[in-house]
Amino acid sequence: MIRERRLEDWPGIMRLERCFPTNQRFCRKMLDIMVDEGAMCFVEADYDHNGIVGCIWIDGNEISSLAVLPAYRGRGVAGRLVDAALADIRKATNGTAQLDGRPAAVPALRLYLRHGFVPVKFKPNYYAKGDPSLFMVKVF
Ligand SMILES: CC(C)(COP(=O)(O)OP(=O)(O)OC[C@H]1O[C@@H](n2cnc3c(N)ncnc32)[C@H](O)[C@@H]1OP(=O)(O)O)[C@@H](O)C(=O)NCCC(=O)NCCS
Repeated sequence: MIRERRLEDWPGIMRLERCFPTNQRFCRKMLDIMVDEGAMCFVEADYDHNGIVGCIWIDGNEISSLAVLPAYRGRGVAGRLVDAALADIRKATNGTAQLDGRPAAVPALRLYLRHGFVPVKFKPNYYAKGDPSLFMVKVF
């Protein structure tokens, strides 16, 4: 079931951050700042697992993070989270959604292409020197 983040989801959200290499994770302090500045988060709750198995962060019209626990991948969880994020962005913004993704994150890029995102710009040093992003946009 997809729903908005609740306070009790923080441990699960921080567990999902461990899907990323150490230098790519958001720390709790950073996520708190994002929340203070209006970022939204949707989660997929799985009651058998007793917690959340995936989450997506949205900042304005931007998808800023997405992760699914390894044991739950390949079942459409991320696809449902992207659908929820896009529905929210569509209601709240001017008709475009955007994101930066690492070109090496192939499963994520395939997912975004499937949801109608189009690669717009390669940014060679976006995350750090030699750590590029592919900027993608979806027009509703
Ligand atoms: C990228 C990521 C979020 C995808 O999560 P996911 O839940 O496995 O994604 P989905 O299940 O929606 O889609 C993945 C694949 O499973 C397939 N799939 C979806 N539902 C399915 C189902 N019911 N049965 C079988 N396969 C299914 C999809 O078609 C897709 O196939 P494809 O990659 O060949 O196109 C996950 O791999 C992850 O957390 N990676 C690490 C963090 C990361 O890279 N995040 C993105 C940063 S921008």
